Amino acid sequence: MVENLHRWLVIRLILVWLVLSFAIGGVVHYLGNIRLDNHVVAMAKSETANYKQAVIEYLQAPSEEALARLNRNVAVHIDHDNLIAVEFYDANSVKITEAVAASARDIEEKLPKHGNEFSDKSGVVCTKMDVNSETYLRVFVPLTDKNGTKIGYLEGIYHAPGDSIAQIKLQTLWALVLVVLAVLATSVVLYPLIIRLNSRLVDYSRTLTLTNIGMLKVLGSAIAKRDSDTNEHNYRVTLYAVNIGENLGLTRSAMQGLIKGSFLHDLGKIAISDAILHKPGKLTEEEFTLMKSHVRHGEDIIQGDDWLKDARDVVFCHHEKFDGNGYPAGIGGGAIPLNARIFAVADVFDALTSKRPYKEPFSFEVAVGILRESSGNHFDPEIVTLFLEHAKRLYGEICHGEENDLHGRLEGYISKYF
Ligand SMILES: [Fe+2]
Repeated sequence: MVENLHRWLVIRLILVWLVLSFAIGGVVHYLGNIRLDNHVVAMAKSETANYKQAVIEYLQAPSEEALARLNRNVAVHIDHDNLIAVEFYDANSVKITEAVAASARDIEEKLPKHGNEFSDKSGVVCTKMDVNSETYLRVFVPLTDKNGTKIGYLEGIYHAPGDSIAQIKLQTLWALVLVVLAVLATSVVLYPLIIRLNSRLVDYSRTLTLTNIGMLKVLGSAIAKRDSDTNEHNYRVTLYAVNIGENLGLTRSAMQGLIKGSFLHDLGKIAISDAILHKPGKLTEEEFTLMKSHVRHGEDIIQGDDWLKDARDVVFCHHEKFDGNGYPAGIGGGAIPLNARIFAVADVFDALTSKRPYKEPFSFEVAVGILRESSGNHFDPEIVTLFLEHAKRLYGEICHGEENDLHGRLEGYISKYF
């Protein structure tokens, strides 16, 4: 159980770590790419500033001298800057001049070509392109006079410097590594906390279960006192029923219902008057009808408690008979809940082999004979057959057991199934 919890928690924390790492890492990677793009665009725009002054002077006052100044300016920068190609246009998209860095002529030819689709743009436009694992930007910069009137534009190809890009990519990679490690560290820190919290929860749950079981014993004892019976009867019928249930291979949850139901089977007798419950002689028909109502009273009492709901099968149906002649519903065969069929055998066997105010205990052989005779009419024959396979041993262990011994055996089953 504990090992399962550790494995369960480790698997889920690893899943949480992976999911969060991918989710947050994805966001970091996305933001890193945006940062990289913005950085490259900013660098490209800043390099176009080298030419602005000269080209605007030419556009405002075109002359051979102004064009020569512009060309000299271009010649100074084109082979040293990252802006590896530039073209200058006037307001009518007529090319004024152009230049390509000597080292970039091959690359410039490989870059996607375009028309004058940017010529009517009023703001800077940058288009990213990747060629031979290198990043290039096509930059469009509108040129305006002092009044803000567009007088021409500049187009350039910017080759993003590999070291700057590598540095930003490295920063993004480190951010990713930190995210993954931070999520991992959080998961590792959470592990003992969750284990500790779970352990406390299990302790509280165990305390609550023991409290409920204590209540079960108190109620069982109260019914026994009311019925002039003893705790031993409750212990014995529960032990017989649990043994049958185990041999039938009942689930843990069914065993819990069987134990609770066995303890509380006659709970409804609390609602039966003393005159009927303690009447020394035979009950009249009317009195017997009232006595039979104890199963309905029992059902009423437990149905308000969620923890006791699974005792209902035994409490309500323990007087049903396999041939349908029992009460309260007169159901038969497999329609009677399995726990009730099990308990009926246990209850009657104990009644037969116990001393009562009105009778001495029957011998084991007589009791077994009565069970056999009633198999198929009162009892489920399969359960009788199964019980009789172990009856001699159970009779020896349980029938004459002291209260402490019976209580001890029952505690073992309670620890096992609750
Ligand atoms: Fe009963």
